[in-house]
Order: sequence, then structure tokens, then C-alpha cells
Amino acid sequence: MSFPFITPDEAALHINNGDNVALSGFTASGTPKIVTVALANRAMVLHAQGKPFKINLYTGASTNDFVDGALTRANAIAQRAPYQGTRVTREAANKGKIHYYDPHLSHMTQDLRYGFIGDIDVAIVEVTEMSPNGDVILGAGLGMTPTIVRLAKKVIIEYSSYYHSSFRGFHDNYVPLDPPHRREIPIYSPEDRIGSPVLHIDPAKIVGVVPSNESESIKQFTERTDVTRAIGYNVAAFLAEQIKKGIVPKEFLPIQSGVGNVANAALYGLAENPDIPNFKMFTEVIQDAVMDLMKQGKCTFASTCGFAFSDDAMLSFMNDIDFYRNKLLMRPSEISNSPEIVRRLGLIAMNTALECDIYGFVNSTHVDGTYMMNGIGGSGDFARNAYISIFLCPSIQKGGRISAIVPMVSHVDHTDHCVRVIVTEQGVADLRGKDPLQRAECIIENCVHPDYKEILRDYLRQARRGHIHHNLANSFALHRAYAETGDMRNAVFL
Ligand code: COA
Repeated sequence: MSFPFITPDEAALHINNGDNVALSGFTASGTPKIVTVALANRAMVLHAQGKPFKINLYTGASTNDFVDGALTRANAIAQRAPYQGTRVTREAANKGKIHYYDPHLSHMTQDLRYGFIGDIDVAIVEVTEMSPNGDVILGAGLGMTPTIVRLAKKVIIEYSSYYHSSFRGFHDNYVPLDPPHRREIPIYSPEDRIGSPVLHIDPAKIVGVVPSNESESIKQFTERTDVTRAIGYNVAAFLAEQIKKGIVPKEFLPIQSGVGNVANAALYGLAENPDIPNFKMFTEVIQDAVMDLMKQGKCTFASTCGFAFSDDAMLSFMNDIDFYRNKLLMRPSEISNSPEIVRRLGLIAMNTALECDIYGFVNSTHVDGTYMMNGIGGSGDFARNAYISIFLCPSIQKGGRISAIVPMVSHVDHTDHCVRVIVTEQGVADLRGKDPLQRAECIIENCVHPDYKEILRDYLRQARRGHIHHNLANSFALHRAYAETGDMRNAVFL
């Protein structure tokens, strides 16, 4: 069977108002880049004619301007899940213009299969190789693709010729059985392959193929600062000590590293500490840092859901692709983030907090308890199940006007039951085996910025006694001070 080549505008005509549309990829990597822009244009034309046009959009994780950006500006998204990271989409979600909800990434694919959000009308899938029987090789991100091509009534292919080296062999396409038939997922080491490098799409569903030559357009992370360097140094020193004490096995454990500037710096911190052995990663996304660490020999293997490389790093990856062939593997998000495997492999999970409280609750998503930043991503999948779950953050933000450690977080993503260690540039709070008050003391003395130590000690002194000490009238005094004076250091306790 040969598939018709169609234009992006023709492809967009296959998508109707109110459709549930699911995309391939994970972050911008492997996400469609052309059809969504044509769809945004179509929405704008229809809106100008006074006709409604909005879709419900489901992706592996965040996307990029050609998906979330273009469709948000066109006011073409009704419902959106899971993670997003595009400024304009974040604003629309915060203004209630998009109904954004934020499941754990490992849940999203099975939620689709379980029918929690209805049928998938259309899947748009970026592929890099394709044969007439519907066998395809995906691109730089795997995400939810094996499931969405099964569920979708129609599949639109974006056939990318951007990559001049073949991605064949970098994917492990796999869909677990659903309850009550589910069995164990047989991954016992980060390198284990359990699926197929080739993904089969039912040819009868493919309505057309759109040629594309677009890059992922991922920006490089900002350079490390003294603060992020110190966080990296502290987390590495902590883990080196854990190995010395025999708490972490001397052959070390696989690393999961979150997204963003801080997590990136933490990885470099591990590489720079001579007492940290070479390591493997079992994680949901790898960024440029992992390529550097592989070149240095420090990271020997990474299992991931997508290659979120900046454009320069992607070119260098393709030029040197054979070096990476036996060192990198992409899995679907429900496998890269599977709680079962995270627990079995014993991951060391390093994720970033927006704010933590003195008892070890973590807010990763909502500034001031209201303003959605990105989403929980996979941090919950890993934090609950890791061998050691570490949360990282700078102790202060916005030039010291915000303390990242507060009496009570303004939104809870990760509870004190899951958060084992907190690391800032000030130091490390090891919360394991401690009761709430011991945790509070440990966090204040080790992680809080000197400008805020006395304020938080004061909070504890005046708090109501119980298993946890709080004074609900003052729990948000720092947030209140920031809202009223622009500086949490002006907090006043009632
Ligand atoms: N109050 C207000 N703003 C805060 C804040 C706080 N407590 N903490 C951070 N910020 C702001 C920073 O000032 C910065 O703002 P800017 O963009 O205007 O400069 C922004 O949030 C990002 O902070 P930064 O310190 O640069 O951290 P980051 O790039 O490492 O991102 C998260 C941090 C929490 C936003 C990011 O890691 C995230 O989205 N995490 C949730 C998902 C996740 O953990 N996934 C992991 C599995 S891969």
C-alpha cells in the first residue's frame, strides 16, 4: 500500500472541531512540527468566519512553539494534558482560556487506553523512516506513540527528512497489557530491550503523509551559575558519602534527572566528583549534558523517553551517531516512568522544586499556590518510588526576595512521605528516619539561606505544638509579605 502525500493544509482538514488529538514525541523531540501550524491557521480562518474550532490536545510531555505556541495563539485548544512549558500556553492555562490538567506522565498513556478521556480521533506522528506496510521508525522522542497509533481512528504522518542519520535501533516500542491481564514489565537493567525498534501502524488508518524538514528548535540551557554549581557539588558530595557508608551500593545505582537548569547542573556535579563511579541513567528525558557525560565516559548508558537536544547538540549527535548506538535507548513514557521499574532498579531520583517547606513537602508546579509553571511531569512517578528521592532548588529566588523554603508550601505535589533529601546551594538536609520536628530543624539549619534562617526558626518557636508544629495564621506569612511588600524578608507573624 502506498500512502498519499498531502499538504499540511490538507492534513489539517482531517481534524474537526472538538476532536481529541494526540501527538507523537516527548518534549519538542519527535513531536509533529508542520500539521499543527496548519491546524492553527485553519482555526484562525474559521474563527474569522465566526465558526467554532478547538481541539483537545494530548502529548507525551511539553512541546514547542509549533504545537502549543501556534495552537494557543490561534485559540484552538480546549483541553490540554499533560505537561506544558510554553510561555503563551502557560499564560492561557493560568487565565482559564485552556482547560489544562496535569496527570503524572506515567498515567497519561494508560488513561487513554482505559478510555478515561474518550476516543482518540486523530494521531499526528512524526516518523523518520516508513515502509508501505505501515512499519515506521520514529524520531527523537517516543512519548505515547505506540498507544496513540493503536487507539486513533485516523493517523496523519509527518515524514521528517531533517535527520541525516538513521534513528533505527534507538527505540523500544512496547505496550503493556491492561488490567486484569497486566504482567510484570521485564526490565531488570537500564539496557534491557523488551519491545521492537519498529512501530507498526495499521495502514488503513493512515490518511496521508506530510513531508517535513523542521528541527526540534530546542534552546540550550543557560550556563551554570555559582548557585547551580554549588547544588551540583552538594548532591554529588552527598551521594559519594552514601557510597562510602555502604548505603548506596558501591557499583552505584541508575540516575534519574529532572528537567531544567538546576537538574542539568546536578548532572555535571556528579561528573566532576571523582568519588562518583561511572553511572547509567534511567530517566524520562536527556538533555545536552548527557552527551557531554557520555563523551567523558562518566555516563555509560541512558534509557530515556526522548532526546531533548538543542539543535547544535542534535547535529553533533547525528554526526557521531555510531558512538551513541549502544549507549542510548528510547522507551514509551509509561515505561521510562514506570513505578514498577523505578522501584526495581532502585533509581537515584533528582528533581527540582519551586518551593519546599520546613517539613519536606514540595511544590513543583504552582508559584504562590496559584500560578501554574509547567506541570508535575514525571517527578511524582520517580519521587514516590526511587531508592533515594532528592529534591533540588536554589535556597532563594528573585535576588533573595523569595525564600524557596517556607513554613508551609502553597501547593503540594510531593509529600513528606516521598521526599527523602533536600539539597540547596547551602547544603543537604537528609530527612530519612526523622520525625517532623527533626526534619524542620535539619532543613532550616542545612538548606535555608542565612537571610531566612532566623525567620523560620521564629516561625517554629511560635507555632502550635502537635506532631507537626504549625500556626495556620502564620503559615503563609512569607507569601503574604511577598505579595504585599515584594520581599519575603518582611514577613510578620501574628
Ligand atoms: N517562587 C517564584 N518563582 C520561582 C520560585 C518560587 N519559589 N522558584 C523558582 N521560580 C522561578 C525562577 O525565578 C525562574 O523564573 P524566570 O524564568 O523568570 O527566571 C523559574 O521559576 C525557573 O526556575 P529555575 O531556578 O531556573 O529552575 P529550573 O529551570 O530548574 O526549573 C522547575 C524549575 C521546578 C520549574 C522545573 O524543574 C519543573 O517544571 N519541574 C516540574 C517537572 C519535573 O520535575 N519534571 C521532572 C521529571 S523529568
